[in-house]
Amino acid sequence: MAKKAIAYFCQNCGYESGKWMGQCPGCKEWNTFVEEVIDKKSVSNAGKATVHKAAEPTPISAITAMDEKRETTKMSELDRVLGGGVVKGSLVLVGGDPGIGKSTLLLQVCKNLSDQNFSVLYVSGEESLQQIKIRAERIGEFTDNLQLLCETNLATVREAIERKKPAYVVIDSIQTMYNEEIASAPGSVSQVRESTGILMQLAKGLGITIFVVGHVTKEGVVAGPRVLEHMVDTVLYFEGDRHESYRILRAVKNRFGSTNEIGVFEMRNEGLAEVKNPSEYMLSGKPTGAPGSVVACSMEGTRPILLEIQALVCHSFFNNPRRTTAGADFNRLNLLMAVLEKRLGLQLSDCDAYVNIAGGLKMTEPAIDLGIVLALISSKKDIVIDDKTICFGEVGLSGEVRGVSMAEQRVQEACKLGFDTCILPKVSLGSIKKTDGIRLIGVANVQEAYEAIQNRGK
Ligand code: TYD
Ligand code: MG
Repeated sequence: MAKKAIAYFCQNCGYESGKWMGQCPGCKEWNTFVEEVIDKKSVSNAGKATVHKAAEPTPISAITAMDEKRETTKMSELDRVLGGGVVKGSLVLVGGDPGIGKSTLLLQVCKNLSDQNFSVLYVSGEESLQQIKIRAERIGEFTDNLQLLCETNLATVREAIERKKPAYVVIDSIQTMYNEEIASAPGSVSQVRESTGILMQLAKGLGITIFVVGHVTKEGVVAGPRVLEHMVDTVLYFEGDRHESYRILRAVKNRFGSTNEIGVFEMRNEGLAEVKNPSEYMLSGKPTGAPGSVVACSMEGTRPILLEIQALVCHSFFNNPRRTTAGADFNRLNLLMAVLEKRLGLQLSDCDAYVNIAGGLKMTEPAIDLGIVLALISSKKDIVIDDKTICFGEVGLSGEVRGVSMAEQRVQEACKLGFDTCILPKVSLGSIKKTDGIRLIGVANVQEAYEAIQNRGK
């Protein structure tokens, strides 16, 4: 007989304790401990996700490395984020806010894979077969290679997977799955951890690729313990503004590729469409001849993305002026405003300032500093920056404009989209061989950048 025991788990980070506590010592959150009845036997199995074949250690030179077997999902944006296709036998966690399109994305992946004659099993614990069918009809024609199962009992799901041996499985979502041996409710730390452990065993043992949907908490991390992210091979986040139609897929962990790449999608009536040229998409709707708007260039992995930075600087009626950012880093804005105040003598301390990256993208690369600076100057001084000008560069505390990586790719992307002038760090000029007729203005500090837009504006 397995011994039943009680433990308290932090629902935020998975910290386990023998007694209830008000504040979690692990993540410092309050009131996150929940009592869970644990089955000693099954919990001790949870960590054993991988199958140990050889007890004898192997010398590293005796191992021949083989490239992982990858399949294409026929969605180049998703393949890119996964590192060039989905790796056979991997466990991929897809997190995101409710209604963002996780189920839609995975159903489309199921369609593409089943069209390539792979057998696919879609397990839903959230929707009925009819609901899935209605969604599927919006997406397109499906073949019978795709099979659906509405089930929340993981033992039944496991049995179905072992019997059908599909090449791909989608579990929508991990928080709805439960294990009979564990007394706590579905979605609790022990349930999620145990379920993920079982899925990991299935993926590695049978060579099945499993996609798992995970809900996110209001802080934006996958609900349940962090240990979930540690167990799986790849963690993807699907994000975006629910009121806008574009969606961004980002890898935060990837054992088989880089985590810098992003995939851009647009939610349409007939499902998600890939956005092959995000720059064009981000710049659509940019106002012409408006002060406070400038186009900057940021790298997302290997791909340059042009985006519009908007700033509004106006007189403040408060003792503490308001500073707000959407898409850019708030502290960075404060820092850049202090630099402008000190190095250019711009009177900004009594001004409210709002900075927005149009399209709702979140950008943290320092190369957009120069864009933020120029947008602020443009709004404060009412200077219109030419529509065909783009800029990039990092701004330091003494007002210097510092070099950034991959300057040539950024310039080329600007050329491709018809820009004729680029304001960039002086030190990056040397690294650009091909200019394709674009005029390059190298600037060493914010003063020179200011002069560059003044001269253009006239
Ligand atoms: P869904 O995939 O159910 O989100 P999640 O699984 O992340 O909770 O997507 C739900 C939203 O997507 C819903 O608000 C409607 C919208 N949608 C479309 O706009 N077009 C479509 O073709 C589909 C299937 C959904
Ligand atoms: Mg869903």
